[in-house]
Amino acid sequence: PNADTSAAPSFARPIATVGVVGTGTMASGIVEVFAKSGYDVVYVGRGQDKVDGVLARITKSLDKAISRGKLDEDGKSDVLGRLTGSTEREALGDADIVVEAIAEDLDIKLELFRDLDRICKPGAILATTTSSLSIAQCAAVTSRPADVIGMHFFNPAPVMKLVEVVTTDETAADVDETVRALCLAVGKHPVSCGDRAGFIVNALLFPYLNDAIRLHEAEGLSLAEIDDAMKATGLPMGPFELLDVVGNDVSLAIQQTLIGAFGHQGWQPARTLEKVVADGKLGRKTKEGFHTY
Ligand code: 3HC
Repeated sequence: PNADTSAAPSFARPIATVGVVGTGTMASGIVEVFAKSGYDVVYVGRGQDKVDGVLARITKSLDKAISRGKLDEDGKSDVLGRLTGSTEREALGDADIVVEAIAEDLDIKLELFRDLDRICKPGAILATTTSSLSIAQCAAVTSRPADVIGMHFFNPAPVMKLVEVVTTDETAADVDETVRALCLAVGKHPVSCGDRAGFIVNALLFPYLNDAIRLHEAEGLSLAEIDDAMKATGLPMGPFELLDVVGNDVSLAIQQTLIGAFGHQGWQPARTLEKVVADGKLGRKTKEGFHTY
């Protein structure tokens, strides 16, 4: 049972240019991952300030790598030279694969997929890094559902190795193969999974994160006590630290999707999660979430 006889996946569809849609934490990380691995990346945001923000975030990350002796100035220029930012989705017309990382809201994603279907060249792979929404629903609004696939990166994308590769009944085998090859080419660890809410990791992780908030609410345990205890088990972060990395708005959206899909009332978002989101305490990205940064 341990023998893996499967051959390494190959680039059934050649990939030279990668498109990324979005300018948030995940999108910035994903742009960085591809550019660092030598791909030309075209990324699209809703305004020049947001496009500039991606460049600033990546520059900061590369500068950190330089200060740690992992990159030199030439390497930094090479990476930045592979980036093209745009405010026009039409810029994605030549991309061999587009990875979308926009808001975790189905209606917003569907509007984008209709647009990608209109803009992208024939044979382009249309991928989404949705955390929990249905890939099949995104595929269904296009004229090319066989080209649509989930490519779920984890936060922080430049560091986390895992990518859940999510196929639907209609995803073409050569699209799945190419995406898995691409993951390996950028140093990631692809795991194939089916198109169910939360895929593998979030379906297990978010009930745990929600339960941590409930434990805090019900038992009066401090955030630090719970974080410390879980870290002492060997986890890199405690639940509240991790919620702040993921973003409390994203966590709430995932939690709501899981409930909608599985109807498990025990998974109702904890009150405090709804409160921090309502208060705009979204986590590290707003400098305050469960903790302050
Ligand atoms: N960009 C680029 N590199 C980064 C980075 C970032 N945002 N954050 C950290 N790094 C690099 C550092 O430069 C460092 O590299 P080096 O050791 O080679 O110099 C390395 O990562 C380790 O970073 P640090 O020493 O600063 O910090 P830690 O050792 O504490 O590691 C961490 C930070 C990797 C984020 C670690 O705390 C961790 O693994 N946390 C758990 C993250 C996790 O579980 N993410 C999944 C969340 S669920 C999700 O994303 C699903 C989605 O759908 C919501």
